[in-house]
Amino acid sequence: MEIRRATPADAVAIATVHVRSWRAAYGGVLPQSYLDDLDAARLCAQWRQTLETTAWPVTGTLVVIDAAADLSAGQAAGADTAAITGFAHFGPTRDEDDDPRSVGELQTLYLDPLVWRRGAGSLLLGAVEKQLGEAGFATATAWTLENNDRARIFYERHGWHPDGATKFHDWGAFMATDVRYRVSLA
Ligand SMILES: CC(C)(COP(=O)(O)OP(=O)(O)OC[C@H]1O[C@@H](n2cnc3c(N)ncnc32)[C@H](O)[C@@H]1OP(=O)(O)O)[C@@H](O)C(=O)NCCC(=O)NCCS
Repeated sequence: MEIRRATPADAVAIATVHVRSWRAAYGGVLPQSYLDDLDAARLCAQWRQTLETTAWPVTGTLVVIDAAADLSAGQAAGADTAAITGFAHFGPTRDEDDDPRSVGELQTLYLDPLVWRRGAGSLLLGAVEKQLGEAGFATATAWTLENNDRARIFYERHGWHPDGATKFHDWGAFMATDVRYRVSLA
């Protein structure tokens, strides 16, 4: 497995992983109609725009590549990017109670369910922490759904802790509670 910086050419693979990971992670957690309506093509356009306008190094997207992963059953991505098994996107915090000059936010971290629990998430999280530290951030935060036990255990396993902040997240079709995790990058 290796980590590299994402490019706009990775948008299809990232959107594919995004939808597959959402559906697997949030089935029974978020409304099924919302998950059914997720549209990889729409997400792909959003990702392409994000990747084209990324202000590296304070904002960025990293992908994990696993040439050995058999994603043929689920990936519709092109051959050149088909080995992308996960991605993470980060930038300065968007929270009003934190300082965007010193707090970096892990905004998304998604692995294809075919590779869950094989260490790719840990590799990616470590790379994001390293990148945020090198970009000058002292602290990293991440929001996750309150009932996303898999992610909460994962973050806590890596030394992140809930800092007490919660928010109602308006997804349009429904509301859900998010909790914020935090780790020192020192
Ligand atoms: C959460 C996620 C990123 C973890 O990635 P991963 O590659 O599966 O995690 P790893 O294999 O690196 O696991 C590292 C450790 O985290 C913990 N962990 C991970 N998944 C777990 C699970 N389902 N149950 C319990 N512990 C878990 C374990 O301690 C694990 O170490 P171990 O396997 O040696 O016991 C991945 O499951 C995912 O993409 N989930 C869906 C999207 C999501 O919820 N993203 C984060 C919220 S924003």
